[in-house]
This record gives sequence, structure tokens and C-alpha cells, in this order.
Amino acid sequence: MSTWTPATWRGLPAKQIPDYPDVESLAAVENRIAGYPPLVFAGEVRQLRQRLATVCKGEAFLLQGGDCAESFDDHGANTIRDFFRVFLQMASIVTFGASKPVVKVGRIAGQFAKPRSSTSERRQGIELPVYRGDIVNGYDFTLEQRTPDPERQEAAYRQSAASLNLLRAFASGGFANYENIHKWTLEFVAGTPASERFASLAHRVSEALGFMAACGIDAENATALRSTEFYTSHEALLLGYEQSLTRTDSTSGNWYATSGHMLWIGDRTRQLDHAHVEFCRGVQNPIGLKCGPSISADELIRLLDILNPLNEPGRIVLIARMGTDRIEDRLPELVKHVRREGREVVWSCDPMHGNTIEAGGYKTRAFDRVVGEIGSFFDIHEAEGTYPGGVHIEMTSRDVTECLGGAHALSHEDLPLMYETKCDPRLNASQSVELAFMLSERLSDFKRSVRTQHMTKHVNGTTR
Ligand code: PEP
Ligand code: CO
Repeated sequence: MSTWTPATWRGLPAKQIPDYPDVESLAAVENRIAGYPPLVFAGEVRQLRQRLATVCKGEAFLLQGGDCAESFDDHGANTIRDFFRVFLQMASIVTFGASKPVVKVGRIAGQFAKPRSSTSERRQGIELPVYRGDIVNGYDFTLEQRTPDPERQEAAYRQSAASLNLLRAFASGGFANYENIHKWTLEFVAGTPASERFASLAHRVSEALGFMAACGIDAENATALRSTEFYTSHEALLLGYEQSLTRTDSTSGNWYATSGHMLWIGDRTRQLDHAHVEFCRGVQNPIGLKCGPSISADELIRLLDILNPLNEPGRIVLIARMGTDRIEDRLPELVKHVRREGREVVWSCDPMHGNTIEAGGYKTRAFDRVVGEIGSFFDIHEAEGTYPGGVHIEMTSRDVTECLGGAHALSHEDLPLMYETKCDPRLNASQSVELAFMLSERLSDFKRSVRTQHMTKHVNGTTR
């Protein structure tokens, strides 16, 4: 394969990258950012790869989630804290139910650029460029706002740095301490069946902590009880920005994208010979690959050849986003093929992007369908003897009314009440916690069924 540099993508066709009218100021911004400190560090990225390698082996579970798109207007400390609380709640539910560590990866601190289905938007006879996320242009429907502005990349860099700073503090500074588990539930979630289940789980965790403390293991002497690892991720879409934050690591001499720990390639930009695949093949970060209904098994293997030529575990997360109606038809063939070829991958399920519908002018998703796609994802892996390694969801800590259903049985009429997303609809906090309980049940059943199969094989004296 040809030589790679952080700039080789520039010679290739690229979808979803906006045309900036002012190319000189674009170059000036990219040069400036290239001189700024990295947002994440190579050692952290390597650690995430190791964690994902354990997911590959079926020993841990990947929870990846956050906003569809972060926003410049909504960057308060409380927003980040509450997101972190819901995320910890979800992770503890899964850890407790499945007795497995959860690898926590937020769609945060860099998730600003969005792929869109059209390049422009028309309202009342006026046509303007489509909104592509706050790192590119503004949401308001005016020419000024919708014109791609390079200075926004600097704002995104600074916001990412501030978010990461707080996330690191929360992860290591006591907020994540299991002794605080009772404080993780958000006020408005209280009273729902999911929060009552969580309160009883928290009680059991506290009892277990009490027992362990009596045995001499407590948050004072066991780091894992008082802190957690939290990683960041976003779609590697705006490649100029990504390039300016791509650095060589002095210890290994390898290239790392330092804009976030994990990057992913979107379903619209995964063409084999295009810019996004070219950029991602050269950086050592874990790479997610969104796999929508149109990907073929051959194409997927060729992408794996390019992105993970050494077949290293922890490098690739395949994020299936088929939709509830198509997963049964599309996923089994891909899973079979990847297994037959002996490829080391984490299989993750994005139950959001294949289940988006339009209702009364709102983009929405039905909670039942989200849960349904995850259910099928588990069934398929059970049938194929492979491991359902994780989920990738769009969620918020806010009490939004963007997805239908869940414990509050949100209906079409409820959508306008608190519909805040500028892009795709997110699960609210109580829907997210409910989903975590479903995951924990499926994972603990899965554990049992794998063990049963293992025992049966053992008894029959067969090996595989
Ligand atoms: C997304 O994750 O927000 C997204 C656009 O996903 P996909 O590339 O799978 O459509
Ligand atoms: Co989205």
C-alpha cells in the first residue's frame, strides 16, 4: 500500500466535506490548530485499544454514546456532569448485571461535524447550505450563519479541551466513586420504574461495598472503586481539522489523531478509495466503522484489509446500524463472513440510525424499535457463536421528548414539549437507564448461554 501521511487524504475524493469560500483563512486556522497542544495522549489511546481488545475476547462490554451533535450554545458544566452521571448509571447497571467491566466511550468533546443527506435546504423558496454541525456553520437559516466558517474549528477545539478537562476530573476526582452511586440518579428520573430498579441496585452495590470494606478493600486503597476510565470519540468527518491534530508519538514514532481517543467512519463516507478511509488507516486510534444496510460482506473485508492489515484486536469496532426491519436480513451474513475470515473485531450495535422516522415535522425514533434492534443483534450473535460486544447510542441526560415510548410512554403529541436536538433524536435519561437494564439482562442471559454451550461441548468432548 502507498505511503501514508496525515495529508494523503487530500488527493482523494471526499464526501461530506464542505466547500469553504475563504480557503486562505481555512488554511490559517488549520495551521494555528496544528501548533496547539493535543487534546488526548497516545498512551491513553493505546490503553483504550487494550480495553477494546478485551471486548474482542468477550471479557468486557463497550458502551458508546452521547449527543448526535454537540452544540456551542450548550456547554455548561451541569450538562457535562449530568451526562456523566447517566453514563455511569448505565455502565454500573451493565457491570452489575453482566459481571463485566464496561469500556466507557462518550460521543463527546469533539462530536461537532455532521454528514447530511442533502447539501442544501430550502425554506419558503429560499435555498441555503445545509447545517453541518457547529464546527462548520450555524444552525439559523440565514446565509451568514449557513456559510462554512473556518474559525468555528478553533471554537470546537477549545470547547473539546474544556469538556475533556471536566470529564477527566469527574472520572478521577471522586464523582465516579462507587460510594456515590446513590447520587447518580437525576431528579426528574426519580419515580420511574427504571429509577426504582436503579435505587435497589445501588442499595445492593452499597451492601457489597460494606462487605468489601469490612474485608479491608475500600475506595481509599482500591483505585478501581473510586475512579473510572472514560474515553472520548467522534466521527472523523472534517479531515482538515483531524489532520491538524494528528501528531507523532515520541515513544512509538506512530501517528495518532489527538482530537479524541476513538474515531469512527460514518456510513456515508466509508468508500474504499476515498479520503476518510485513507485518513483513518494511518492513525493508530481505535477506528469505528458504521455498517449500514448497503455494505456487502466483500466490501467489509476489504475495508478491514485497509484499516487493520495486521488484524490487531482492539483496533476495529464494527458498528452495525441496519434498522430493526433489516438487521435480521443483513447482519448475519456479515458476522459469518468476518468470523470465517478470522478477523478480530468488536461488534457493536447502533440501534438509532436505522430507525429514524419523520412524524409531524419531527425526526424521531421509537424506543421499542431501538430495543428491538438490540434484541436482534444479541440473537444473531448468539446464533453465530460470536460476541455482541457493545452498543452505540444517541442519548442525553436531559428530560427531552425526542424519542417515542419508554416508561413515560411518550407519544407523537409529546414530541414538541421538549424537542431540543439540532440533529438526530436522542434517548432521554430515563429511556437510557431503561435501555441499560435491558442490556444487562441480555448480557447476563448471554453469559449463561455461552457457558451452557461450553459445558455441552466439554461433556461431548468436542472442541472448536
Ligand atoms: C451518526 O452517528 O450521527 C451518524 C450520522 O451515523 P451514520 O454514519 O451511521 O449514519
Ligand atoms: Co446521529
